[in-house]
Amino acid sequence: MNQKNLTAGLALGLSSVLTLGLAALPGMGQTPHPAPSAMHTSSTDLENWWKNAVIYEIYPRSFQDSNGDGIGDLNGITSRLDYLQKLGVEAIWLSPIYPSPQVDFGYDISDYEGIDPQYGTMADFDRLVAEAKKRDIRIVMDMVMNHSSDKHAWFEESRSSRKNPKRNWYVWKDGKGETATSKGEPPNNWQSDFGHSAWEWDEKTRQYYYHKFYIQQPDFNWNNPEVEKAFDGILKFWMNKGVAGFRFDAITTLFEDPNWIDDKELLDKDGKTYLNDYGDVSLDDARTNNLPEVNRVVEHVRKVEDSVKPNVFPGRRVMIGETYVPTIKDLLAMYGTTDKPEFQLPMDTQVGFINKLDVATFRSKLNDVETKIDGNIPLLVFDNHDNARIDARYGDGVHDTAITRVISTMLFASRGSALFYNGAEIGMKTTPPTRKEDVKDPVGLTGWPKNKGRDGERTPMQWDDSTYAGFSTAAPWLPVPSNKDTINVKSEEADPDSLLNWYESLIRLKKTNPVFIHGENVMLDTENTKVLSWLRKEPGKQAVVVSVNFTAEPQTVNLGATSASETPGHHAKTLLKSPGVADPESLENVQLPPFGVYIGEVE
Ligand code: GLC
Repeated sequence: MNQKNLTAGLALGLSSVLTLGLAALPGMGQTPHPAPSAMHTSSTDLENWWKNAVIYEIYPRSFQDSNGDGIGDLNGITSRLDYLQKLGVEAIWLSPIYPSPQVDFGYDISDYEGIDPQYGTMADFDRLVAEAKKRDIRIVMDMVMNHSSDKHAWFEESRSSRKNPKRNWYVWKDGKGETATSKGEPPNNWQSDFGHSAWEWDEKTRQYYYHKFYIQQPDFNWNNPEVEKAFDGILKFWMNKGVAGFRFDAITTLFEDPNWIDDKELLDKDGKTYLNDYGDVSLDDARTNNLPEVNRVVEHVRKVEDSVKPNVFPGRRVMIGETYVPTIKDLLAMYGTTDKPEFQLPMDTQVGFINKLDVATFRSKLNDVETKIDGNIPLLVFDNHDNARIDARYGDGVHDTAITRVISTMLFASRGSALFYNGAEIGMKTTPPTRKEDVKDPVGLTGWPKNKGRDGERTPMQWDDSTYAGFSTAAPWLPVPSNKDTINVKSEEADPDSLLNWYESLIRLKKTNPVFIHGENVMLDTENTKVLSWLRKEPGKQAVVVSVNFTAEPQTVNLGATSASETPGHHAKTLLKSPGVADPESLENVQLPPFGVYIGEVE
């Protein structure tokens, strides 16, 4: 993850109040989904399932505990597959479940081909894949190639002697001004995304090793072909176990500038240097992030991925990238070219992490991803385990449920694939620790009190209103937020107007309405600064209008056919609308209550 995004997410106000609201899709919220296989074949072909996919991120530690130790596990996830199937999830991205000292909760891997006993066994994993397949749900693994744990046997060998064959698997450098008795200074000023120097002195072999993230996460040396070969084997291992793809962690930071020169200091608007959340002088990280060599590795990995025949699901495996890149041009580069393909789905973090409900910015960013990525498939995403939840980044503390409907409409009613984080569908709220002694995330420990870390978005999934929210029978590793009494799956399932039922209805629309499957997005009413409206259209299919009020005041919009509008008609049949929205008599007069959403098929 990129520090700028992490801190941007966390620095925002975290004290919103969620109010449950109403969904209104006659007959949709409560009707069971069509059988999943029917859903797939009717909405998209299997080979290209990932082009209009609904992907759900599970943070296994916090999803469902099955053995009463307060930590989520694989059998817990398996027990909740029916819930995910009903919601319409087609693929699960599992945050890391490999053996790990858990310094960064799994992102510090000590064995890439095993399962951490905290989460279960390999047999549990195989059962999860098999049970998920029965429900047409694919498993996508998190793949951390930038670094391993310092407890991985490879690093232990690497640090054992300068002559060890694995020495060059990691990034080792001499200190500046080092002598026989002094370690000197770190090789340069590079900083870890988790605070302070990115260099750690190793007394035994008297050199520094580089870590973009935590000290216990030494970076691999991707200039060494043996590292690439080792990962080829790891990827094949998991593909042969039936996984449907990978989410490539921290992929943009695989390489470091070979000149090892200092990063530049960032200046504030007064031209002065300033301190970041960790009390360090803020630097750009241009010499350790987004280097062009990354694309060569991604291209290679794509070849490896394409070389292994699918053995569980027919159709392509998917490569998802954790691509916090600064511009749409950089995002386009992550797709590669027709001759040299890279990611099918690099995450578009430009839209989802705007972190401000501003119509013009969303219009322009959504338009970019429609028009400037050469017809590739966008992967929209608004939340994950590294950033404060939607309430803290977009909420106003009064209309958070309605605002989450606004966000989820952009996510599911736009062209492309949609990725969302467990708990978003019930409106879980960011709940950061209030005392330093309760902090679990190393980022929060280093950054306290400015940066409270990521525990706030990793609290246990709220299944019901019991003491531990149905997550566990024991006290969970992170406390259950007190709002579990009202924000939980059980009560929202019973309420046709809940956020959960809104998500389910939107997902159903995405998967079953013909123009939602691949139809393009065309922005409507483009001067409007209060309401974002767009059209989904495709030759030969009924067009659909989507209109979303970004404000706390009622708004009226004119989306009817005019010479300046792309809308092909004056009337619409309502497909989905949020509470309080009336069926418009004509598209010339669509009235939206505060943060209201209207979706209708143009007649
Ligand atoms: C990614 C993960 C984050 C982790 C970091 C280091 O950004 O999403 O959780 O801490 O990489 O692996």
